[in-house]
Parts: sequence; C-alpha cells; structure tokens
Amino acid sequence: MNYLQKRILKDGQVIDEKILKIDSFLNHQIDPKVMHEIQSDFFDYFKSREITKVLTIEASGIAPAIMVAAHFQVPMLFAKKSEPSTLAGQDKFSTLVHSFTKNKTSEIIISKEYLNEHDKVLIIDDFLANGEASLGLIDLVKQAGAEVVGVGICVEKSFQPGRQRLIDAGVDVHSVCRIASLAGNKVTFVDEEDE
Ligand code: G4P
Ligand code: NA
Ligand code: NA
Repeated sequence: MNYLQKRILKDGQVIDEKILKIDSFLNHQIDPKVMHEIQSDFFDYFKSREITKVLTIEASGIAPAIMVAAHFQVPMLFAKKSEPSTLAGQDKFSTLVHSFTKNKTSEIIISKEYLNEHDKVLIIDDFLANGEASLGLIDLVKQAGAEVVGVGICVEKSFQPGRQRLIDAGVDVHSVCRIASLAGNKVTFVDEEDE
C-alpha cells in the first residue's frame, strides 16, 4: 500500500457510495508530505517521457500539478473556470466541462499564449470520476495542436467510467491510487481485489 492509500484509510471520510472526502490533506488543508509522495509517484511513471508543460484545472489540481512541474522543471498551467459564454475569445482556447457530481456545466479556458504545437503536456488532476475534466483538458491541448503525453490522477474512482473513457481516447492514464468501491462506508482499493 502506498502513502496516499494509507492516508486515505487513516484520514479520508466516506460520504456515501460515490464520494470520498479528503479535505484534511488534499482538497482543503494540504499536507506537503502527501504532495511530495504523489509527485514522486507521477515522476517515476512519466520520467522517461519528454514533458514541456504540466496542465491542470483550478482549484484542487493546482497543488499536485505544481509539485510535479517542479520535479520536471517545466511550467505548470491551470485552466480557469468561468460561466459558459458564447463569446469565443480570439486569444483563448475554451471548452465546456459538465460535472455530474456538482450538476453544473462550466466553461474552462486557457490563454493561447501559454500552449502551442510544440508542447508535450502532462495533465494532472486530484480526482477522476466521469473523466469530464480530463477530457476537457485534452480538448484544450488538441486545440493548441500540442501533444497529450498522459494523464496523472491522484485518486481514481475506478467504479466510475472516467478511466475507460480516457483509455478509449487513446490516453496513457496513471493513478496514484485506484478506489474499487466506497460501499459499506469502507474504502477498497483496486489492487486489494485482483488487478
Ligand atoms: P470528472 O471530471 O471526472 O467527470 O468528475 P466530476 O465532474 O464528477 O467532478 C466534479 C468535481 O468534484 C471536481 O472538482 C472533482 O475533483 C470533484 N470530485 C469528484 N468526485 C469526488 C470525490 O469522491 N471526492 C471529492 N472530494 N471530490 C470529488 P472541481 O469541481 O473541479 O472542484 P475543485 O475541487 O477542483 O475546485
Ligand atoms: Na479537480
Ligand atoms: Na476537486
């Protein structure tokens, strides 16, 4: 069991069969020790790849993304969320992301200034559920003509379809921890079962 899995068992709160709360070390208060362990896991997995930029989405992706970017010694860029707008800015890449968890659609945007066709992009996020956020970020990378090197996720909820949707899109997905189930008020990881 890795450090993040241990912390989830120690400090995570199962809210219901779909939602895990980890506000004490990742989503509200942030423990640098957890961030350090997470970034070194991502670095080990992606280190042989050429990466020019780390991309995430505000707010909770920023902490793990900056740690990974520091290790790769490349900039970290985060997509900003705004109210959906019909005004397609000349200077921005934008796409729509629907959150099933929050039942809300947001426009996410990045300035064209910070992503171009020479970039090789590692996408990082805190949670992977339905994959909407990651697919939106992939769309932004493609609009820029840049390459998606992979997607790194801190906590993947493997009982939701996000991972499969990313794999179907041809993306290399690496998750520091994969949750098979939150049933019975208990966290069960994928490797404890049989993968
Ligand atoms: P998806 O991108 O994989 O489709 O996920 P979804 O729309 O369901 O997630 C919407 C928001 O809810 C995201 O945060 C995501 O990180 C968060 N989320 C999803 N599942 C869980 C969970 O089990 N626990 C916690 N704590 N968060 C979860 P966001 O809206 O982007 O907000 P922010 O936290 O980054 O500001
Ligand atoms: Na997030
Ligand atoms: Na989040």
